[in-house]
Amino acid sequence: MNTKKTTVDDCKMVDIRKFSDDRGYLSVVEGELDIPFAIKRIYYLYMVPEAARGAHAHKQLQQLMIATSGSVHVTMDDGKNKKTFVLDKPWKGLLVAPGLWRTLDNFSGGAVCMVLASEHYEDEDYIRDYDEFLKYKSL
Ligand code: TYD
Repeated sequence: MNTKKTTVDDCKMVDIRKFSDDRGYLSVVEGELDIPFAIKRIYYLYMVPEAARGAHAHKQLQQLMIATSGSVHVTMDDGKNKKTFVLDKPWKGLLVAPGLWRTLDNFSGGAVCMVLASEHYEDEDYIRDYDEFLKYKSL
């Protein structure tokens, strides 16, 4: 995938499968079945104070972000356009396309944002400087 060309419209909200009965809800995500990649890594953000997180881009990494508890705003930026997604249900996920700048903020009290990732942690996959990101997108 040429991730220099991806746009905010390549990100989309998806409904996560859920099963409910009188014992409550269960949601499930299976790599390569419910999402277009195999899951190599899971991490989660929690006890986040006021400050925003993220503020970087990935060259290849694909992710599914889920607010498993509480809510969080995720703003995607392709250098030309920005789009903010509100994650506020454990059965809603945001499929994050590679090659986009992302910022996470507005964490509600007690929010937990879980991220399912297509790759192991690789520092070389990060773009942490916004001007470098714009250059990467050839803007
Ligand atoms: P950082 O990339 O700054 O978090 P954010 O997603 O909010 O930008 O990561 C914080 C620290 O955690 C940093 O020292 C790198 C480390 N880290 C790992 O070791 N493995 C991981 O999978 C992730 C996402 C972060």
